[in-house]
Amino acid sequence: MANPLKLGLAGIGTVGTGLVRLIAARTDVLREKTGRPIEIVAVSARNKRKKRDADLSGIRFVSDPVALARDPEIDVFVELIGGEEGIAKEAVEAALLAGKHVVTANKALLAHHGTALAAMAEKNGVALNFEGAVAGGIPVVKTIREGLQGNDITRVFGILNGTCNYILTKMEREGRDFADVLKEAQEQGYAEADPTFDIGGFDTAHKLALLTSLAFGTRTNFDAIYVEGIETITPADIEAASDLGFRIKLLGVALRTDSGIEQRVHPTMLQKDTAIANVDGVSNCVAIDGDFIGDVMLIGPGAGGGPTASAVMSDIVDIARGTVLRPFGLKASNLKAYKKAAMRTHEGGYYIRLSVYDRTGAFAAIAQRMAAQGISLESIVQRRPESEVPGQGRSPRKKGEPQASVVMVTHETTEAAVRKALAAIERDGHVDAKPQMIRIEKL
Ligand code: HSE
Repeated sequence: MANPLKLGLAGIGTVGTGLVRLIAARTDVLREKTGRPIEIVAVSARNKRKKRDADLSGIRFVSDPVALARDPEIDVFVELIGGEEGIAKEAVEAALLAGKHVVTANKALLAHHGTALAAMAEKNGVALNFEGAVAGGIPVVKTIREGLQGNDITRVFGILNGTCNYILTKMEREGRDFADVLKEAQEQGYAEADPTFDIGGFDTAHKLALLTSLAFGTRTNFDAIYVEGIETITPADIEAASDLGFRIKLLGVALRTDSGIEQRVHPTMLQKDTAIANVDGVSNCVAIDGDFIGDVMLIGPGAGGGPTASAVMSDIVDIARGTVLRPFGLKASNLKAYKKAAMRTHEGGYYIRLSVYDRTGAFAAIAQRMAAQGISLESIVQRRPESEVPGQGRSPRKKGEPQASVVMVTHETTEAAVRKALAAIERDGHVDAKPQMIRIEKL
């Protein structure tokens, strides 16, 4: 019998527990597939005594994850702690320097330090695998890095956060409040420890940064990503979108353009009859456009213990078989410098919702500001005020001057023109709240 592959697991939360259960359930099959037993020999967690839905009996406990990373008995350090800095980073670096393979689902760490950590892994001749870091159970890292190697990729986009997709789906289907549905997502174990990473769009951006590097062969550059979350999306937007034939999804988009790479994360209006608009609940989806293959779309569970453990396991199996690939496909020193394309050149239609004082001339002034920026309107409709839309029960009806909700859809225009027009409308004083603006994508 070949030597067992010995794992040190740091972090026994939702995904860690899922991995312990998966290894226990598939012991024989994994041995058959890789030709060697795969064993968790030591674990580390913040709370040793916490009750967990997995059998850890007989497994050595190491209180310091950094000590576990360097432990002479382990071959692979599995990092499921999370976080871009601190103990997770320290432990991963310690493992790589000690010549241990690393498997991680830590998208924040890699989005910020991916290129440097990849260089460290290469220097030490070990793997740095991160299938579980992007889109939960969907095997998209391998798809791009291995399956699509022969292609020139021009665009990657998708729904990359299960929590946001769950919230938007539930808000639409059940007319429920944002906060109420967020609480439910946290209880289901989808949300990050700090849910602002999910709802603020940062978790999507972390994953997008990794997809961008894999697809375009560039150094990871999280800071170049334009990020908007879903916190400002209201039931009024969801209702108006539906009446206009759209669904709202939080999308991450990376495009290679003539002026550089554009990476953006923001709520997006998608036509109801497209495949991506129908990816619901905790599901994720990643679409990749390549020159030889054409367009590929992967859909599957984007969060949760089981799906993410499945992805982590695939990375461990690679190591057990002796496969060590360059983390981002290219040698780290050959990853190209990142050139950012200006977001303001983004073209497409826009949905705009304004809370307008119900005064004579307000409509005309708004239309004039749009026209002054050369923006052509596809439709302009006065709708029920926000306070009268179901699901908005907790927001108090505004007192004072009566308001109307005005929803506009523009024809194709530029980001810069829309921003200028909205700034002028705000300055004119006809609106009582920051305008809502959602980009329409024809994908
Ligand atoms: N919080 C993440 C999500 C988990 O909701 O998608 C998977 O990264």
